[in-house]
Amino acid sequence: MTTNIGILTAGGDSPGLNAAIRGVGKAAIGEYDMHVVGFQNGFRGLVQNRHRALDSKALSGILTLGGTILGTSRDKPHKMQIGDRQLDMTDAIVETYERHHLNALVCLGGGGTQKNAYRLSQKGLNVITLPKTIDNDVAMTDVTFGFDTALGIATDAIDRLHSTAHSHHRIIVCEIMGHHVGWLALGAGLAGGADVILLPEIPYDVDRVAEAIRARVRSGKRFSIVAIAEGALSKDDAPRLKAARAAKSNASSKEEKATAKAALAELERSLKGNTLRLSQQLEEMTGLESRITILGHVQRGGTPSAADRLLATRLGTACAGFINAGEYGVMVSVQGDNVVPVALDAVAGKTKYVPVDHDWVKSARLVGTCLGD
Ligand code: F6P
Repeated sequence: MTTNIGILTAGGDSPGLNAAIRGVGKAAIGEYDMHVVGFQNGFRGLVQNRHRALDSKALSGILTLGGTILGTSRDKPHKMQIGDRQLDMTDAIVETYERHHLNALVCLGGGGTQKNAYRLSQKGLNVITLPKTIDNDVAMTDVTFGFDTALGIATDAIDRLHSTAHSHHRIIVCEIMGHHVGWLALGAGLAGGADVILLPEIPYDVDRVAEAIRARVRSGKRFSIVAIAEGALSKDDAPRLKAARAAKSNASSKEEKATAKAALAELERSLKGNTLRLSQQLEEMTGLESRITILGHVQRGGTPSAADRLLATRLGTACAGFINAGEYGVMVSVQGDNVVPVALDAVAGKTKYVPVDHDWVKSARLVGTCLGD
């Protein structure tokens, strides 16, 4: 009997998704004689039964393409916006799974997708996932595909900012994506030789940052590049955010929950202006002109790097092998030189932060980079 597998891509897109779809599909069809169907726009495609065949022809010519040929969304199966209501659509997903006689569902995504996939596996579906995200924050894998490409783009941006900052004797504060973790800002900051690197994992003191820039001026360097992760927080804001998050998770009554949720949302909204605020503070505190550059979605777009194509192809082809062996409820991860399946319950709901004693952090300090602490 033919094995039927469904594939979807969920969460923010990331370079390497098409390479992964191709890796899973080509190995599944060519090596194991499976039948492959793609569901469109993440978990919503499963709810709506929107699908397309992923045969050899559809899988051809997509290795180098950015984005995802399947489309994506941030929809959650158990809390999906349908019209003006949020509904649990898990049963509709199970129905589509059964209608297609699927033997396995492959979900390609980041932290949120791992959580959603785990919930579906608890409902009895044979789920297997691959870790993708430019943030590199998925637990239990050394790396995620998409990260290397984004790292290259952000590093290139820092390189380019150097010459203009140098010519104008300015500070340039460059905001780098990464959600609540600092892998991308740290990696690009280190590779691009940023003078200051600010991460969510190390709350910063603006006085320290200003002093590091003034020290550079005293030594004849009249420009500075500050690489700041989008989730970086000052020493004052970090405890406020921590308290607001705790208040939300500890709230017991419905009213308390709603109040805490609104307070957290308000605080998060105000923190979005962090990069601009820091730039203005540094201008006042150093007397140098300061500019900001927010790299944004340019870091997620375009063709995947060679390393991401390789990684996505390795993980995708290994995934087909795990399906053939009947290994479900797992994420296909990289650990050292190996590709290994790890149980989804060890991944779901976890975040891989930058350890504050990580080698990259140590190296940054040793080359004299200010980390704001
Ligand atoms: O998770 C990838 C990511 O690019 C994060 O770095 C960023 O915080 C978020 O997605 C942006 O999401 P969206 O594309 O939905 O605005």
